[in-house]
Amino acid sequence: MEPVEYRPRQKKRSRRCVFLTVVAVLLLIVVLAVAFGVALGRSTESFKTTFTDRCEKFGGYDCEKVWSAFEQAYVGKDPCKVPMEAYDPLIAAAPFQPVCNRVMFWSKTKDVVHEFTAKKDCFTTLEDTLLGSVLDHLTWCGKEGSTETFTSDCPEWKYCENNTVRSFWNRVSAGFAEAACGDATAMLNGSIATPFALDSIFGSIEVKRFDHKKMKSLNIVLVTQENNVSDCTNPSLKNLQKELDDSIHYTCKEVSEAQIQACGSDPEAPCGACW
Ligand SMILES: *[C@@H]1O[C@H](CO)[C@@H](O)[C@H](O)[C@H]1NC(C)=O
Ligand SMILES: *[C@@H]1O[C@H](CO)[C@@H](O)[C@H](O)[C@H]1NC(C)=O
Ligand SMILES: *[C@@H]1O[C@H](CO)[C@@H](O)[C@H](O)[C@H]1NC(C)=O
Repeated sequence: MEPVEYRPRQKKRSRRCVFLTVVAVLLLIVVLAVAFGVALGRSTESFKTTFTDRCEKFGGYDCEKVWSAFEQAYVGKDPCKVPMEAYDPLIAAAPFQPVCNRVMFWSKTKDVVHEFTAKKDCFTTLEDTLLGSVLDHLTWCGKEGSTETFTSDCPEWKYCENNTVRSFWNRVSAGFAEAACGDATAMLNGSIATPFALDSIFGSIEVKRFDHKKMKSLNIVLVTQENNVSDCTNPSLKNLQKELDDSIHYTCKEVSEAQIQACGSDPEAPCGACW
C-alpha cells in the first residue's frame, strides 16, 4: 500500500539527514578544537622557544631543567596568586653566583644603565644574569586548570600585587641582591624628587637583602640631567643610609647623564674611572 511504503522511506531520508548534520557538526567541533589547541600550544611553544634560545645563548646551564623549574611556579595557577616564593625552586635550579665589585643596581634609570653596561663591560646588572636576560621584556602567566603558558591577557601589577611577572622580578631581584659582594654600585635618578623610593624594587627588596658579610660598600651614582631636582643631600637618600648595615660603607656622587654616555662610548676609559 502506497502510504505504508511511502512513510518509512520519508523517515529513512530524514534520519539520514539528521545523521549527516550530526556528523558535520561533530567534524566542525573537532576542527575548531584542534585549531584552538594548536593556537594555545603555539603560544606555549613560542614562549618556551624564546626562553630556551636565550638560555642556551647565555650558556652553562641545563636549559630544560631551568625551564621546568620556571614553569612550575605559575602553570595551572591563578595568575594573581603567585607569590615570589613560588620561584624559589627556579633560583635553586639557576643560583646567582656572587658578583664582586661589579654589581650594578638601578632604579628609574633603566635605559641609561643598560646603554652604559652594554657598551662597557664593567658592571653586571640583573638583566645581565641568566634569569634576568632570559625573561627581560617578556610577559607570561598560567590559568587554573590549564597546563599552558599564556603571553597575553596576563594581569598587570595595578590589578594584583602577587602576579606572575612582578613576583618573578621581586624574587630574582632578591637573589641578585643577596649575592652582591665587595663594592656595589646603584644608579638612581636625580631628575625626580625621591631618588630612593621605598616602594621601588631597589627600596623594598634589594636594599633589604644586602648581606653585610659580603658587601663592603654601596656607591650611589645619582644621574643628573639638565632638569635635575635632587642631589646627594636628598632626604630619601638618608632613608637609604638608615636601611644599610653600619658596616657597609656608603658614598654618593652626582654624575651627569652626558658624562656617563661619554664614558660609555670611550673604549679607553678604564672601569671605575667614569665618575
Ligand atoms: C602576596 O604574597 C605575599 C607572600 O609573598 C603575602 O604575604 C601577601 O599577603 C600577598 N598579597 C596579596 C594581596 O595577596
Ligand atoms: C629619570 O626619570 C625621569 C622621569 O621618569 C625620566 O624622564 C628620565 O629619563 C630619568 N633619568 C634617567 C637618567 O634615566
Ligand atoms: C644639578 O646638577 C648640577 C651638575 O650636574 C649641580 O651642580 C646642581 O647642584 C644640581 N642641582 C640640584 C638642584 O641638585
